[in-house]
Amino acid sequence: MEPTISLDDVRIYKELDPGGMIEAVEGFPDQCLEARRLASEPGALPYPEEIREIAILGMGGSAIGGDVIRVLLEEEIRRRINVHRGYRLPGFYAQETLVFAVSYSGNTEETLSAVEQAAAQGCRIVALTSGGSLLAMARDRDWPAVEVPMGMQPRAALAYLTIPIAVVMERIGLVSSFSQQLEEAVESMRKRVSCWGRIQPQEQNFAKQLAARLCGKIPVVYGTEGPLSVAAYRWKCQFNENSKSPAFHHVLPEMNHNEVVGWDRLDDFTRRVEAIFLVDEEGDARMIRRVEITSELIKENLGGVSVVHVRGNSPVEKLFVSILLGDFVSVYLALLRGKNPTPVEKISELKEQLSTPG
Ligand code: PA5
Repeated sequence: MEPTISLDDVRIYKELDPGGMIEAVEGFPDQCLEARRLASEPGALPYPEEIREIAILGMGGSAIGGDVIRVLLEEEIRRRINVHRGYRLPGFYAQETLVFAVSYSGNTEETLSAVEQAAAQGCRIVALTSGGSLLAMARDRDWPAVEVPMGMQPRAALAYLTIPIAVVMERIGLVSSFSQQLEEAVESMRKRVSCWGRIQPQEQNFAKQLAARLCGKIPVVYGTEGPLSVAAYRWKCQFNENSKSPAFHHVLPEMNHNEVVGWDRLDDFTRRVEAIFLVDEEGDARMIRRVEITSELIKENLGGVSVVHVRGNSPVEKLFVSILLGDFVSVYLALLRGKNPTPVEKISELKEQLSTPG
């Protein structure tokens, strides 16, 4: 389907994006630095030898930062980092489990249930939130808390819900090189904002071009093992929430052992699908080869295949830059579809119905 809206027409941002999602995306590099500052005084923290594992609790836009932290820092801290999206936690979590309870609103019932369980089991807790019941609990019970700015969509607050976790780990002494890598990543992202931002015309703007390719199609995003697997999931969620589009994701090499077979031709349906592969250009040669072969194997039955080569000097830079690109593409796709990227009415309605006794 040919888009009728031009992404180079500055008026459409005012008309279709009154909540300023594009500005939030363009501001991501600065938000990263601001987020680092927020976590500089979190309160009393445990010593490294008191921590056996880390658990990060959250849902949706408040949980993906946990995946980012796990994939970037688990090896360095030499402890398991588990991300929990749900009401319950393992019964063996105890005093040696450091829990980060993350909820942008502070009112998400699954996260509140899980943090209550963590507290009952004696875990050490740090809260990240803009307010709500979680902040009230933290104040009441003397948990260290990072208060993030209010008035954003949780998914647009990714920097604030992610970076403070790494900074707290640095303050504890579990992590040493994150801040340095973050600064380099911020510089690199600033340059990408000039290339992918709304001012850059579509002819020279890869993010706008990719959004145009995706218009009228269902994106299926494949990330390679490691940081780009998390980026692929973020892209999928951003297509869902910003673009209001169905979208799916999976990870290589695992999809080579099942999903690749499923891309048999299915009437016109598979022709409406665009596969996007996120691949680390300097990564494992075996993964690069897999992407080449897989894209050849499936392309004939799909509407298109795009391969995004990710570059960067560190895993932090590669992951953050690929997240930034996906965020831009998802907002542009929303606008091409004539959708306001900000509201998530179905999520709001669901929460509303759940809070009303049935
Ligand atoms: O993007 C969203 O709005 C959702 O995925 C929310 O993040 C999710 O529902 C959890 O809410 P909160 O982030 O307020 O804990």
